[in-house]
Amino acid sequence: MKTLAIETSCDETSVAVLGNRGEVLANLVSSQVAVHAPYLGVVPELAARHHVEVLPRLVAALGKQGLLADLGLVAVTQGPGLIGSLLVGTCYASAFAYARGLPLSAVDHLEGHLVSPFMNLEGLPAEEIPEGTLTLVVSGGHSSYFLFSQGKGVPLNRTRDDAAGEVFDKVAAALGLGYPGGPVVDRLAEAGDPSAFRFSPPRIKDPQGELDFSFSGLKSAVIRQAQELGVTPLPDPQNPPLVALDLLASFRATVVEWLLQPLDVLCERHRPPVVAVAGGVAANRLLRQELKRWGERARIPVRIPPLALTTDNAAMIGRAGQLRGAAGLFADPLGLEPYPRVSWKGTGERGTGKRVFPPLTSP
Ligand code: KG4
Ligand code: ZN
Repeated sequence: MKTLAIETSCDETSVAVLGNRGEVLANLVSSQVAVHAPYLGVVPELAARHHVEVLPRLVAALGKQGLLADLGLVAVTQGPGLIGSLLVGTCYASAFAYARGLPLSAVDHLEGHLVSPFMNLEGLPAEEIPEGTLTLVVSGGHSSYFLFSQGKGVPLNRTRDDAAGEVFDKVAAALGLGYPGGPVVDRLAEAGDPSAFRFSPPRIKDPQGELDFSFSGLKSAVIRQAQELGVTPLPDPQNPPLVALDLLASFRATVVEWLLQPLDVLCERHRPPVVAVAGGVAANRLLRQELKRWGERARIPVRIPPLALTTDNAAMIGRAGQLRGAAGLFADPLGLEPYPRVSWKGTGERGTGKRVFPPLTSP
């Protein structure tokens, strides 16, 4: 029995079909980058309209490939994300599941990112997530370490302000490098000197949040420096001066250094058997390279998802949906409500201030 998965939480429309052990049989992603690029960020109403247009076409494409036969489950992102975008996916998935009499699995977008390092695009079964795995989820909306404990993902820190991907996007926008900023900053940074500029780390006084991230001060400092250099925007973005490349390289190196900083302490405390990274920023070349190096030094295996599974995709939602289904958690297709913000719903830990996922035990 196969799983049809649908992801429409932000600006990518994605559908996937998985074998019942998490084998990715198809993973189609339709990017809206060109639609939002002129606005230097995602315009929610435009995103929702594009999902309405594109989603049925992508599902029809799966049907043409004969992939919609023998379905046993429909999985969809319930939240967090843009409410209009989520509504398109949840309504479509609910109607599809109801019409075909299939069980429906409502997935948290972060659960999807968390399972992605244990998936592959070679059509092989997904791996089980080892107990105690430590995963950095780092994207346009999130920057947190999670620990897998007794089948649950428990957050260990968070960002006090901007997410790392958001900062890549805002710095790139200030320099006139378009949207999304992460990939272009990453590429240009390769040609710069990462030690050319130094930025002071944030001071977080709250002892409870000693391992928390904070990126907004760095964002302001980089943009201020860029203004002083007269590169906001770059006169010729195709041909940036060396000093701008140095600034971007130093910025990227600082983000990566800060993201990896809590690792030693977290590993000492939790002794994870595996360390993983997930989310759009996990596509960053320097982050991938530095995490691998860290793993070699610490002698801890490191799991990094294939590039296509770092940014938003339905395959990861399908796998998280299967794990939820195996734990007996299903949604009502006649009453599925999306949620825009990070949710404590259904966790049994409401009010503790801690976000804990429902069990993600393997079948
Ligand atoms: O996971 P994702 O597709 O969507 C969210 O859930 O937010 O992540 C998108 C984010 C964007 O901020 C984008 O700029 C960033 O991931 N990103 C990168 C790279 N590729 C994408 N950031 C740094 N380096 C990259 N190579
Ligand atoms: Zn995401």
